[in-house]
Amino acid sequence: MERTLIIFKPDAVQRHLVGRILARFEDKGLRIAALKLQQSPRAQVEQHYAVHRERPFYRDLVEFMTSGPVIVAVLEGPEAITVVRNLLGATHGRKAAPGTIRGDFGLDQQYNLVHASDGPETAAKEIELFFQPHEIVSYQRVTERWINSGG
Ligand code: CMP
Repeated sequence: MERTLIIFKPDAVQRHLVGRILARFEDKGLRIAALKLQQSPRAQVEQHYAVHRERPFYRDLVEFMTSGPVIVAVLEGPEAITVVRNLLGATHGRKAAPGTIRGDFGLDQQYNLVHASDGPETAAKEIELFFQPHEIVSYQRVTERWINSGG
């Protein structure tokens, strides 16, 4: 089992797409381990995107990510990090394949609807940045054995 951090960005919230996108993750079989709406503090966004600090789009990205509420979530499942990134598609909406979330819902590079962790170490750091341990819930669904046989 793996955990990954998801951020429904301000464009997803403003465009009323959160429910439909969350449904894609649920449809796939991923388990919601944490979920909350927040107005992100600038310092938290700066830390989250620190790896992009020298990139020309960094300032705009921080402005965008603090421009309105976001929904942050932890999703859980076998190889959840890769599974979620495959569901999202390429970063740029115009390059993302049809059938992926970005391929179906977006045209833009910055306004690409959802952020997802890109590896196990990043996921651990990002989850810690956005959630207190008590906000993450471990549980089993009654459908679990029909979703994941272990194979
Ligand atoms: P995300 O996966 O959250 O990681 C960094 C974000 O920066 C990315 O999604 C986009 O929202 C944004 N981004 C990446 N590359 C560019 C770019 N070349 N121009 C503008 N924004 C970008």
